[in-house]
Amino acid sequence: MNYRHAYHAGNLADIFKHLTLAHLLVQLRDKDTPFCVIDTHAGAGSYDLRGTEALKTCEAQSGAFAFAKLEPDAALAPLQEVLAKWNLGISFGKDFQEKQLRFYPGSPAIIQHYARANDRLLAVEKHPEENKKLRKMLSPYFNAQIHQRDAWEAMGALIPPPEKRALVFIDPPYEQPDEMEKAFTAISKAYERMAHAVFALWYPVVDDIAVASLKEKFASSGIPKILCLEAEFSPRKTLRGCGLILINPPWKMGEKLSEALNLLQPLFAESSAPAELSWLKP
Ligand SMILES: C[S@@+](CC[C@H](N)C(=O)[O-])C[C@H]1O[C@@H](n2cnc3c(N)ncnc32)[C@H](O)[C@@H]1O
Repeated sequence: MNYRHAYHAGNLADIFKHLTLAHLLVQLRDKDTPFCVIDTHAGAGSYDLRGTEALKTCEAQSGAFAFAKLEPDAALAPLQEVLAKWNLGISFGKDFQEKQLRFYPGSPAIIQHYARANDRLLAVEKHPEENKKLRKMLSPYFNAQIHQRDAWEAMGALIPPPEKRALVFIDPPYEQPDEMEKAFTAISKAYERMAHAVFALWYPVVDDIAVASLKEKFASSGIPKILCLEAEFSPRKTLRGCGLILINPPWKMGEKLSEALNLLQPLFAESSAPAELSWLKP
């Protein structure tokens, strides 16, 4: 486990996955029934974009900083709102100045922002140091539970939660060659136990054959209602782009995400291919 998200926090892949996550949470909050979010690979929780790790890669320049320069819009607002909470006084669009953005909220911070008092976050992070930072970040919130255990084992133990509604957010580092396979197996088993939960799996676009095989596995599974979003943003780099597989996306989520992806398109300027949204299973 060598991966440290601090080197990549706020990059384009984060913007893509976190804007989607924030949209899902906004929609979950539309109904009164409490929900539970299981964040299987939660990371450290929040990141300092002026920290040594972030400055070493400067990945946030083409991600969070470019995102902040986009004019405010309803389709971008779910993530802009969380960035504004973590960076008091920030302006978006033409009034944005680089000095206004320092802290980048990771997935548990975004989930916690949208969780109401009776919603719950179960955050799983196996790495001891990352887990310690996560615990500190979430310590003020009584409705957040932190687990230091293996994500795939935790999915077996924590799903289904007692709440009637759940979102399972799965964001592995893909350090091991079998992680796509593990993700597919864990989701298939969890789906059998909670078929109405929303599942969101992030994947990198590095190896076309591996990505095609992952999508084919979902497409030929017995699971209906699977939406897939994919964007290419750096055609000349190893991580060319990324995607998200969404099982049971909420009503009209496809339209909302399509609008959001259109607005993100200027950030994908190195690529000539437009971001794609398609149903693997309608
Ligand atoms: C891509 S980062 C997560 C970023 C976070 N989801 C976010 O959006 O802010 C992946 C995290 O998974 C953790 N991790 C790796 N293998 C794991 C496993 N088997 N179980 C739980 N956590 C794991 C890593 O330590 C790392 O912090």
